[in-house]
Amino acid sequence: MAQTPATSASPVSFTRQADVLVVTIDNPPVNALGVDVRRGLAAAIAAAEADGEAKAVLIVGAGRNFIAGADIREFGQTPQPPSLPEVCAAIENCSKPVVAAIQGAALGGGLEIALSAHYRLAVPSAKLGLPEVALGLLPGSGGTQRAPRLIGAKAALELILSGRHAGAKEALALGLVDRLGEGSEALPEGLAYARELVAAKAPVRRTRDAQALADAEASRAALEAARADTAKKSRGLFSPMKIIEAVEAALTKPFDEGMALERKLFLQCIDSPQRAGLIHAFFAEREVLKAPETKAAKPRTLESAGIIGGGTMGAGIAVAMLDAGMPVTMIERDDVQLARGRANVEKVYDGLVKKGRMTPEAKDSVMARFSGSTSYDALAKADIVVEAVFEDMAVKKAVFAELDRVCKPGAVLATNTSYLDIDEIAASISRPGDVVGLHFFSPANIMKLLEIVVPAKVSADVVATGFELAKKLKKVPVRAGVCDGFIGNRILAVYRQAADHMMEDGASPYEIDAAVRNFGYPMGPFQVSDLAGGDIGWATRKRKAATRDPKARYVQVADRICERGWFGQKTQRGYYLYPEGARTGQPDPEVLAIIDAERQRAGITPRSFSEDEIMRRYMAAMINEGANVVHQRIALRPLDVDVTFLYGYGFPRFRGGPMKYADMVGLPKVLADIQEFAKQDPVFWKPSPLLVELVERGADFASLNQSE
Ligand code: 3HC
Ligand code: NAI
Repeated sequence: MAQTPATSASPVSFTRQADVLVVTIDNPPVNALGVDVRRGLAAAIAAAEADGEAKAVLIVGAGRNFIAGADIREFGQTPQPPSLPEVCAAIENCSKPVVAAIQGAALGGGLEIALSAHYRLAVPSAKLGLPEVALGLLPGSGGTQRAPRLIGAKAALELILSGRHAGAKEALALGLVDRLGEGSEALPEGLAYARELVAAKAPVRRTRDAQALADAEASRAALEAARADTAKKSRGLFSPMKIIEAVEAALTKPFDEGMALERKLFLQCIDSPQRAGLIHAFFAEREVLKAPETKAAKPRTLESAGIIGGGTMGAGIAVAMLDAGMPVTMIERDDVQLARGRANVEKVYDGLVKKGRMTPEAKDSVMARFSGSTSYDALAKADIVVEAVFEDMAVKKAVFAELDRVCKPGAVLATNTSYLDIDEIAASISRPGDVVGLHFFSPANIMKLLEIVVPAKVSADVVATGFELAKKLKKVPVRAGVCDGFIGNRILAVYRQAADHMMEDGASPYEIDAAVRNFGYPMGPFQVSDLAGGDIGWATRKRKAATRDPKARYVQVADRICERGWFGQKTQRGYYLYPEGARTGQPDPEVLAIIDAERQRAGITPRSFSEDEIMRRYMAAMINEGANVVHQRIALRPLDVDVTFLYGYGFPRFRGGPMKYADMVGLPKVLADIQEFAKQDPVFWKPSPLLVELVERGADFASLNQSE
């Protein structure tokens, strides 16, 4: 009887149950298809062929998932046989019917294994997808050839280009699976299905022979539509057009030729820097969860929340919490401001109702969890309170004194301050161990980043609660230390200055924005400033004027623009003109004249800047300050800087983040640039000691990314 030898350490085991050979993949945490799994699967299929008693084969995953795909950690390393396409071919070529029974994730190579089986069953927890595009790849084990043959070009292209997951019912409707299991466990459902197939003498049925591409005209139309859409939406991305090319081969070539082309294109994607950037992003956004405090302590209870301040941020944070199912109590200064705060919250839901994305009843039921008060006593029972009042130390301290008075012991007291010293706020009350920074980004109900700012005296379980809150709100938490601007805004302040310097030296804001967009950002820094409102930065500059280093270069263009009342989109002009509330700005000759006048005042003869130089300066400033932030332990690791920029500042994901980008460019090159720029402005351009040390050691930022 075919059975895995008892001594085998393979993650794939097989055992015959009556006339079905049950093959189980047990490779925690997600049954990824590493080399041992591939070997095990190949051996299991060979055993099935050799076992005269086996009439069918059932493949299942142990644990919550079927298979989450190829082992992403193997990409970029020397490939080990057998390859995944070879394993898929062995399954498809098996002379006995092979059934895949799916629970949880059947993603990427996992779905490709299932597509190579002859029959597929899914239980309700199943999620099926080909998410390779999110990693800069294409399905490389027949997904681009088998999926279109099975479900048609249109559905396959949509699935592969979006990378989204389909649930069990949708998978059945699409034709990705043949049957839904009623129970929650794949094994008994799959076994019953396999026995039924054996009893019915069901034939081997190969997906390579499926006929969903029979309507050539419809298939061709789907392909052209996808091509046009991708050209518009996936600007700058490498793998989407390769996906279309591979799927086209399913329409035009015999299966084996299509497979050969898919492999060739897959290897091109593997070699692309975008693959390296995107896979770095995948792991980095999981690594940020591993902070010392999340390992050391359990989070506190997080059922109800209080928010102080119902302005831009307070209202957005309230919505984020309401969306997560929490009851929220908002405190404002007076009844008028409270009514405004409530209206700010309601406006978000009214917008959703108007767009048909929420029913009026659902809105009412969410708003029923919202209450407001002008008395802090209403916060007596709150598990967590987030303060989002004016950015003013005296106001914040007064608020925290009230929280100290009314909140129950153990309540987490958080501030959303952008720049203020949270140690000082914590020291002003009797329970500094409960005070933490939770720095949300605007709009707070949409932006994914949450900086968890850790003051000196905070308890580990309070920090762990911050991470838990992020999970509840579906946000990406990054641990940051206390300093002016924490990780993100501190680095932003520096590269923003580099952009201002270039503007004064001769590049127009429009050239700088275009260079930054061509690098992959959705917007350039001057467009962002117009969107956020120039008055915000102006107020900060005025506040900090007294403490500014007099030797440091200070570009006054932004002040000249603000003095005219041009604050950006909301005033119809800033760096750009926005006629009649247009959201896309037009270059403004008067702004160029202001810049010229400032150059003359500063005695600067303008010179031209190439796009390459603009980006070298912009990125060098960002990377250098990123290195300082890591060096001073404000960020735990370079990857924390990367995740901050990916989720809070629109950094192009395919480049992995600024520190990953620096590694890819090469740290010696970045340092040489900084040293070159320093010849002209040694006050601004000071190489970070960490960058210098890494270059001396021949190391890179990645070497510092191990979890603590
Ligand atoms: N390879 C290696 N490790 C993987 C992995 C994979 N495919 N998928 C997940 N992991 C790791 C994670 O890094 C994490 O490790 P950690 O605990 O050390 O941080 C652990 O497994 C658990 O992952 P999650 O925290 O993401 O667990 P969830 O339960 O939240 O999510 C999941 C599970 C939906 C399967 C999610 O992990 C996921 O989306 N994985 C990636 C799926 C994917 O992109 N597959 C395609 C791979 S490319 C491919 O198959 C190419 C082929 O066409 C040739
Ligand atoms: P805002 O001016 O829109 O709102 C502040 C609100 O606080 C007002 O509604 C005001 O009435 C209320 N308030 C003031 N004093 C109060 C008190 N003593 N008690 C109760 N309510 C009081 O300001 P915004 O933009 O929401 O900023 C709030 C905080 O969030 C600031 O610390 C800011 O630095 C920070 N922040 C702002 C971001 C942004 O993009 N606007 C991003 C991240 C943080």
